[in-house]
Amino acid sequence: MKFFLDTADLTEIEEAASWGALAGVTTNPTLYARTGGKLSDFHNHIKRICDIVDGPVSAESVAMTRDEIVRDGRELAAIAPNVVVKVPTMVEGLAATRTLADEGIPVNMTLCFSVPQAILAARAGARYISPFVGRFDDISDDGLDQLSKVVAAIGNYDYSDNTVNHEQVEIIAASIRSANHVTQAALMGADIATVPFGVLKKMVQHPLTDRGLDSFMKDWEKVQNA
Ligand code: E4P
Repeated sequence: MKFFLDTADLTEIEEAASWGALAGVTTNPTLYARTGGKLSDFHNHIKRICDIVDGPVSAESVAMTRDEIVRDGRELAAIAPNVVVKVPTMVEGLAATRTLADEGIPVNMTLCFSVPQAILAARAGARYISPFVGRFDDISDDGLDQLSKVVAAIGNYDYSDNTVNHEQVEIIAASIRSANHVTQAALMGADIATVPFGVLKKMVQHPLTDRGLDSFMKDWEKVQNA
């Protein structure tokens, strides 16, 4: 499984990259606004992220019509070779994805909540599909169950005949809220998990590791004082 960081925060991206586990980033103008950024500077910020990340950087288009999404997608893709255009799973998004994929621009179809949506995204030429987990949990539904169905359904077929460079479609487990979400996504075979930095930090931790380090330090002190 690969990990993407779901953020616009450059400090978080630099830190995660230094851990050696960062394969990419997913971001959007809302995440950038949380760092104090402005929509008018979003494209410049994507360039800053691409300069740090050696992997795909999904940048979300905020346009709503196919022509606007295609225009925005072309501009985003021109920022750096590793930009992936993030497009919502809706009719206008599918149409824009088909056009962008035909132009060789990779798309991450986001806001995916069902197997039929995922199949349509794959047929439209999406390089990545992002089923959301946490948003189902927010409405007391089972996001992991939906994710497992998407992973299984997409894995049943080969969509590489219509993707950019004939690469395999990859499933990004998105809207990840906990280390357990990551565990379950890995067990069901999701290709990628995009996680907030807080979840990535939790993934490193285990109480028995803390206890082991504690007893190691105590033993080490005893050896030094002997
Ligand atoms: C990533 O592509 C998604 O935008 C993100 O994971 C959504 O997470 P949220 O449901 O916590 O907003």
